[in-house]
Amino acid sequence: MKSIKIVATGSYLPEKVLTNNDLEKMVDTSDEWITERTGIKERRIAAEDESTSDLCAGAIKDACANAGIDPSSLDGVIVGTSTTDTLFPSTACWTQKKLGIKGMAALDVSAGCSGFLYGLELATSLIVSGTSKRIAVVGGEVMSRVINWKDRRTCVLFGDGAGAAIVTEGVGDSGVLASNWGADGNLAPILYQPAGGSQQPASHESVDAMAHTVHMEGNTVFKHAVVAMSGAVTKAIEAAEVSGDDIDLFIPHQANMRIMEAARQRAGVDAEKMVNVLPKYGNMSAATIPVALHESNLAGRLKDGDLLAMTAFGTGFTWGASIVRW
Ligand code: UT7
Repeated sequence: MKSIKIVATGSYLPEKVLTNNDLEKMVDTSDEWITERTGIKERRIAAEDESTSDLCAGAIKDACANAGIDPSSLDGVIVGTSTTDTLFPSTACWTQKKLGIKGMAALDVSAGCSGFLYGLELATSLIVSGTSKRIAVVGGEVMSRVINWKDRRTCVLFGDGAGAAIVTEGVGDSGVLASNWGADGNLAPILYQPAGGSQQPASHESVDAMAHTVHMEGNTVFKHAVVAMSGAVTKAIEAAEVSGDDIDLFIPHQANMRIMEAARQRAGVDAEKMVNVLPKYGNMSAATIPVALHESNLAGRLKDGDLLAMTAFGTGFTWGASIVRW
């Protein structure tokens, strides 16, 4: 076991709510279709003057307040995001600026919706190796800025938000029992933002072609997601030498209720143990797991010694799962 402790969690969710009924007025869709096919009812949308680092800074502030510490006492800031403030520098550096802190290492993890679990894996290794003592791991996204609001196949799915966890050295038996992470870059073109990077720099043509927005083969993503998410968590449960029955709380990446259900069933975890914040927030990519974790924590669903299973999949294709003794 890798001895670490998530001493506090936090979140920041923009105020503006966009409901399925609102979307009915924007594209040819219906509340019924979105609810049945995805499980989503509404999502949050960042204000015009808010970028991903504002959301991340808000989540870190909340988590630090809950931990009773000052953000300046962190010795690492790891941000999982696909919707960076700028191509460079990292959103983690912009987050430092928004928090008015400096000195500690700050870096982004580009692993799509798996970004928070990738970040947690890195933070765990840094703490266990003795390199760091107190790291904020954040998942934050402003998906609304990379959505084609005329494409009903994608615009109904996503939302904005951020969640954070403060990770320190272990306390008692707390720690990561086992984890599983991986990627298959051959699947990159099934879910990506084509333009804006070195492959296809911004041009009038790229803007006209809506190439700066999410391009996704939904059905293909769906199939890979079920296999990747359930595969990662099943392997992690096995490596932890526990069973699905032993898991007290199950937090899958919140993209589609049908994918979450398939992962839960394949992992052998009872339905009442699964956290579901998808109806309220939609798919916030890297932010879904830390926001769901924070809401579970606030609701008192995690007690010392409980076993928490988290699992994700995302663009890349990436996947990850962690079994944590709380
Ligand atoms: O974090 C990773 C991000 N991505 C995902 O998690 C996406 C994974 N994929 C999915 O969640 C599902 O594939 C979707 C929710 C995107 C789509 O659900 P589906 O059951 O796979 O539907 P479909 O793409 O097979 O489309 C079925 C029908 C089509 O109409 P026809 O061709 O049968 O007449 C679509 O045009 O539904 C239509 N459709 C819609 N209708 C109303 C697609 N989007 C919408 C919509 N409203 N928003």
